[in-house]
Amino acid sequence: MLTRRGFAGAGLAALASRMMPEMAYAQRAAVHGTLPKDMVWLNANENPDGPPRSSIDAMMKVLPEGGRYHYQEFGAFYAAVARSEDLTPDQVLVGSGSSEILHAAVDAFTSPTRPLITIAPTYEGPVDVAAKGLGRTVVRIRLEPPYVPDVKRLVAEAEKAGGGLIYICNPNNPTASVSPKKDLAWMVANLPPNTTALIDEAYIHFGDTPELESALGYVRQGKNVVVTRTFSKIYGMAGLRAGFGCAAPELIAKMAPFRNNVISIVTARAVLAALEEARTLVPERRAKLIRTRRELCAWLRDRGLPYIEPQANFIMIDVGRDAREFIDAMPPKGVAVGRPFPPMTNFLRVSIGTDYDMSRFREAFWSVYKA
Ligand SMILES: Cc1ncc(COP(=O)(O)O)c(C=O)c1O
Repeated sequence: MLTRRGFAGAGLAALASRMMPEMAYAQRAAVHGTLPKDMVWLNANENPDGPPRSSIDAMMKVLPEGGRYHYQEFGAFYAAVARSEDLTPDQVLVGSGSSEILHAAVDAFTSPTRPLITIAPTYEGPVDVAAKGLGRTVVRIRLEPPYVPDVKRLVAEAEKAGGGLIYICNPNNPTASVSPKKDLAWMVANLPPNTTALIDEAYIHFGDTPELESALGYVRQGKNVVVTRTFSKIYGMAGLRAGFGCAAPELIAKMAPFRNNVISIVTARAVLAALEEARTLVPERRAKLIRTRRELCAWLRDRGLPYIEPQANFIMIDVGRDAREFIDAMPPKGVAVGRPFPPMTNFLRVSIGTDYDMSRFREAFWSVYKA
């Protein structure tokens, strides 16, 4: 188990993570050196298709009206987002990306005595806010093969602390592995008092296994569960910043004060347009991604390269040596790949791009691998 105590004097670190998130994220994703103009970006799990055409048209249309706050539109906006997941508007909280909701959940459901309890490695956003921003204790259970979170240990840690926030990313970033539905069912049924489960479903649309099931059912049942979703991934709107949290109205009310006002009307209109066509857009994009991902997996298998079976729009490849070598050598060859994810230092995280992107990846990767 890795335990990270928050800083006693959290002042400067808090400033860095709370006041300058743009800079913090930019630093984390930075790719250094002189880069070719036609770079292929496979480092941030973005969607190369970007926003759907209907969203772009909706944004262009609203731009001249950008001088108004448009507060009166947000009731209908919340209703549309809630309807898209069979929820009521009071079960939904919209944020500037799902990041804002993850942060609000950490604010609302951890305390000096209730830690953030999670696995390692996983998505760093909630961990950074808890440890650096709020000085909370973060308990991390190391993820071992087959990369399935040990829910019994997570619950045991919450019992030991007398409560806390258990964060599970499903599918997990960076491993692209899933928490089987029976494990999540057990965890929700056994949540100790004073404990909330935060299930991050940023990548759920890309899953292709019956083991993967959304935790939204628990939200509808009024359990102590918060689910986050994002428009950054399947909808291709990472730069537009929209996501949402789903939870029982009492939990939403606890998180809402930690939000930062409203999202941009430009983004809200883009989301509304995308939701209008979600029924066709989501399955089409999902099928395309799965096909490209399968081709990459077959290529890796042909070369005897081990990888973790991917259920997201990225894959973790075991390169058999320090992945830093690839992370540094590939950008000058025109392909940016994911950052290191200790303690999995021999694994390289690669986002799934277009078929063309992946052909460039294969070429650059193989030349470094063979060198
Ligand atoms: C697992 C996970 N959750 C949340 C986020 C934050 O995404 P956003 O704030 O764009 O919704 C990311 C970003 O890559 C992520 O990987």
